[in-house]
Amino acid sequence: MFLFTLLRYFLPAVGVLLLPVFFGLRASAQDLAAGQIVKLRNIEFNPDRLLVQAGDTLTFINQDPFKHDVYIVRTADPNVVVYPATNLLPGESIVIPFQEQGLFTVYCTIHGGMKGKISTTGSFELTEEEKRKVASVKVLPPIVKTGETLFWDKAQCYQCHRMGERGEGLRGPDLSDIGFRARIQAQKLGLDAATEYLIQSLLQPDAYLVEGYTNAMATVYQPPIDLSAKELTAVIAYLQSQGGEVDTWSINLDKEKLATLPAMNPFRHGDPERGKAVFQEAGCNSCHTVGAQKAVSVGPDLTQIGAYRNWTWLTESLLDPNAEIGPEWQYATVYLAPEEDDLFAFEETVEGFLRKNTDTVVEIMVASERLERLPKERVTRVEVSELSKMPTDYVETLTFQQMADLITYLQTLKGSAP
Ligand code: HEC
Ligand code: HEC
Repeated sequence: MFLFTLLRYFLPAVGVLLLPVFFGLRASAQDLAAGQIVKLRNIEFNPDRLLVQAGDTLTFINQDPFKHDVYIVRTADPNVVVYPATNLLPGESIVIPFQEQGLFTVYCTIHGGMKGKISTTGSFELTEEEKRKVASVKVLPPIVKTGETLFWDKAQCYQCHRMGERGEGLRGPDLSDIGFRARIQAQKLGLDAATEYLIQSLLQPDAYLVEGYTNAMATVYQPPIDLSAKELTAVIAYLQSQGGEVDTWSINLDKEKLATLPAMNPFRHGDPERGKAVFQEAGCNSCHTVGAQKAVSVGPDLTQIGAYRNWTWLTESLLDPNAEIGPEWQYATVYLAPEEDDLFAFEETVEGFLRKNTDTVVEIMVASERLERLPKERVTRVEVSELSKMPTDYVETLTFQQMADLITYLQTLKGSAP
């Protein structure tokens, strides 16, 4: 009995260590994260100084309500990438087994200035000689390289533009110093920043015509070029690198701005058949039921969505799922006290959509058609998330054309209730 009592009190704390020994269970890498946990919060790494041993495990958790990435380079030679930029959506985490020796810098390439240091040597400073060496190396965030590749290939900018000696495009201006020139243009046009000018050049090329040129600039976010918002961001970062300062944080293709694009215009028609295919390909159907097509996971039934939601509303729900979350779709974590007669019980949690929270019961939808009823006596806490369970990165992964097709398709869904 004593052993049981002991276990009961100590298991929650040392459970992950004892369990594998006692019961031969394998805990997940995350449970055993012997190494260190770094929170990405308020646009900072916390902690931002990490002393590690080669072989340690580092776990990065994004606790901000927006996306970050984790990009690790050797501090003394920033061109040596130890860990390539990996996206972390809100709430996501990654576990990195760290094998290197030396001093490293970890960045979020999306948020300039967000960085931390990882050291296996005990020192977080470079030697004077290393510092001099680093100062002479010009390092650009990886997104600039992506933008460069796009510029000279898929985005077809080279068809009309050249960069000094590189390329032959003549229909548009030479862009070799556009990063610098954008600042002057922005001032002239009363725009807030150089980047605003670059964004405008790509999204509303007719808004301002460079002297001596016609409005022959391609609409790059529509087919055939069809760049996504993510690709546009990369191209703009590349333009910034041409004589200007690369600051990806400033490339704020914010949702409101995108929603006003001609590509997103309600009078522009997408193709509902193509939209239906996108609905499958993008995995919308895994969470959303449409008519007889049942979803496996949980999300609102969209069978009739077109009957009561207009274009603007649908566009917004796709661009920014967190903006408005219906009362039935608040995602919650319910903490339960261990059951009295269960000697091995831990504090339990149940996650799902919060359907009811009264004096006597909490009801949670955990899977399609599975509702958990939890007696209020056992509930110690209910935490409701402000974030939607609907993925928030469609604006980056889908092209504008795909989005227009998708929204056109959603508008055709006016079926009768199942
Ligand atoms: C079909 C030809 C064509 C293509 C393709 C094209 N552009 Fe242009 N671009 C132009 C022309 C013409 C102008 C000048 C008229 C104007 O300002 O819209 C221009 C203007 C610009 C400007 C403003 C330049 C300045 O000096 O202020 C930028 C920036 C720009 N383009 C970037 C791009 C990028 C990046 C791409 C590829 C994603 C691209 N363009 C694709 C023809 C093109
Ligand atoms: C991982 C599950 C999941 C996936 C995948 C998903 N959604 Fe959602 N979606 C949700 C949840 C949960 C909600 C309700 C919360 C909210 O409104 O943000 C929602 C809300 C919506 C709404 C608003 C419906 C209403 O009546 O309020 C629309 C429209 C929608 N999703 C369309 C899509 C489309 C189109 C895709 C694919 C590009 C997609 N969803 C992918 C889970 C998902």
